[in-house]
Amino acid sequence: MRRFFPYIRYLKAERRTFLPAVVYGVMFGAVNGLGLPLMTKYVFPIVFDSSGGPRLTTWELLSVAAWLPMVFLLRGVCGYLNSYYITLTGTRVLEAIRLDFFRKLQVLPLSFIQGRSAGDLVSRGLADTGQLQNTLITVANDGLKQPLTLFSSIGYLSYLAFTEQGVVLVLVCIALVPLCVFPVRYVGKKVVKRAYQVQAQLGDVSGQITENLSAAREVRAFSLEARATERFAAACRALITSQLKVVKYAQALTPAIEIVSACGISFTLLYAYREGMSIDTFLSIIMALYLSYEPVKKVGAINNELKRGSASLERLEVVLNEPVRIADPATPVEIGRLRGEIAFANVNFAYHTDVPVLQSVTVRIPAGTVCALVGPSGAGKSTFANLVPRFYEAAAGSVSIDGLDVRALRLTDLRRNIALVSQEPVLFNDTIYNNLLLGRPDATREEVIAAAKNAFADDFIRNLAQGYDTMAGERGVLLSGGQKQRIAIARAFLRNAPILILDEATSALDGESEAAIQTALKRLVVGKTVLIIAHRFSTIRDATMILVFDQGRIVAQGDHRQLYAGNDLYRSLYDRQQMSGGLASTAAV
Ligand SMILES: Nc1ncnc2c1ncn2[C@@H]1O[C@H](COP(=O)(O)OP(=O)(O)OP(=O)(O)O)[C@@H](O)[C@H]1O
Ligand SMILES: [Mg+2]
Repeated sequence: MRRFFPYIRYLKAERRTFLPAVVYGVMFGAVNGLGLPLMTKYVFPIVFDSSGGPRLTTWELLSVAAWLPMVFLLRGVCGYLNSYYITLTGTRVLEAIRLDFFRKLQVLPLSFIQGRSAGDLVSRGLADTGQLQNTLITVANDGLKQPLTLFSSIGYLSYLAFTEQGVVLVLVCIALVPLCVFPVRYVGKKVVKRAYQVQAQLGDVSGQITENLSAAREVRAFSLEARATERFAAACRALITSQLKVVKYAQALTPAIEIVSACGISFTLLYAYREGMSIDTFLSIIMALYLSYEPVKKVGAINNELKRGSASLERLEVVLNEPVRIADPATPVEIGRLRGEIAFANVNFAYHTDVPVLQSVTVRIPAGTVCALVGPSGAGKSTFANLVPRFYEAAAGSVSIDGLDVRALRLTDLRRNIALVSQEPVLFNDTIYNNLLLGRPDATREEVIAAAKNAFADDFIRNLAQGYDTMAGERGVLLSGGQKQRIAIARAFLRNAPILILDEATSALDGESEAAIQTALKRLVVGKTVLIIAHRFSTIRDATMILVFDQGRIVAQGDHRQLYAGNDLYRSLYDRQQMSGGLASTAAV
């Protein structure tokens, strides 16, 4: 139970529905625990009066007859209102948790997201919050009503035993109720471990579906259909096995408690026989006893549900409690538009602490420079570029722009000054227009169209079925690679940021598209500080500054002429690229 304490603050926010729920729950418990036993005790003797006393008046008869309906009416109304308000509270709390989960995903460092399978995160956000919802609803429905019923019926039992039959009976009756705690605790322990497993396996199943769908083409190209299905079947089988284990333990609880309660009733019967108890008192005790075992059974089920909920909570907390390492500083430096001078001073960086990716990188890129990053695959070029918008944080040293450490700036201010055109631009499943607008959400329609024209995208967009209002499809699948790139360039035009990061596409496009993109890029880079991760020799040659990366270090810098003459690595990279570039353009002809 303590597990859930940190979440009480969510309940505080919903006190306007939570408090009425508690009040109705208390009323339900009192009516439920006392109504029927009191009836057997006080109403039955009047109706089944065997002493031949005076018959009841009509008025008395009516009030006797009204007892049962009144009990059920009160019980029903209070029970209903309790369930309604508590479910309302529960679902609102859940909504808040789900929202917090999603909000957290927006601000967590990229490394956190990349280190996990998307499907598993999806499953945490849906299946685990779903499980938590079940828990909330079960607990909400029975969590108050049942314990309160238990208290009032035990209270009644004690009262009866003290006033009529002595203390022994009360001990017999009540002593058996706590016996039920043992099966409840035993089963709870078994359930929690397996519930965690179930949720993890759900994550695996959903991960496989997500991965499979995102690689639909590769699955077909490599004929992986059968293998993927086999793996999926195994994951499903494992999931079902674990789910059945949870059911196995959870379902054993009810019979266990029923057996204990049957023993309790037998004891009472024996005791009643010895004491020569009247049938009214006996029936009323049995009723109260039955009414106190029923809640224990339900409390057991609640306990199981709580365990499952806490397993899910644990999985959600992996996200909810993850510290946001890359966050706004307490007192950010206020900035407007930056000039765009980028400086790295002794920067070390590693994705995983044991494998250094950048090592003592020091470089100053003056504002307005077109700077090409070259080097073998895995040398650290993309990593270097990713440190500028603070997608990752340098482990040592500093990255600064215009002399301001990027950690001193508000993230939105920093990133507003940077435009990004990535190797494989991602479009959202929205209209082309809205996808362009992401560059600068407050742009006018004229500005959006002007940007599209500058990026040579206007023509092809107009030729689409619904022009600018055409949907792009998930991740932009309805557009070609070259079209997506032009949309990304148009976005960068709109953003008009002083710093531009360009990860050049590796695959050569067809001649016309390629030429359009190159011209668009030439227009785009004017007056900006540009980091180009260059894969084409034409780009490299045009750059005013070239940084040569090798194994996480900048091994040389200069312009093309200097480097070609003085750096072996650069010369060999350049020659190789020129050859493959040459081949590619020959092939394209
Ligand atoms: N998200 C990541 N998590 C862990 N390691 C990573 C991650 N991204 C890159 N790396 C590792 O960091 C090193 C540098 O990668 P980086 O992407 O910066 O290389 P690159 O120079 O851009 O290569 P390429 O030319 O192939 O794009 C590589 O060894 C790579 O395996
Ligand atoms: Mg790269």
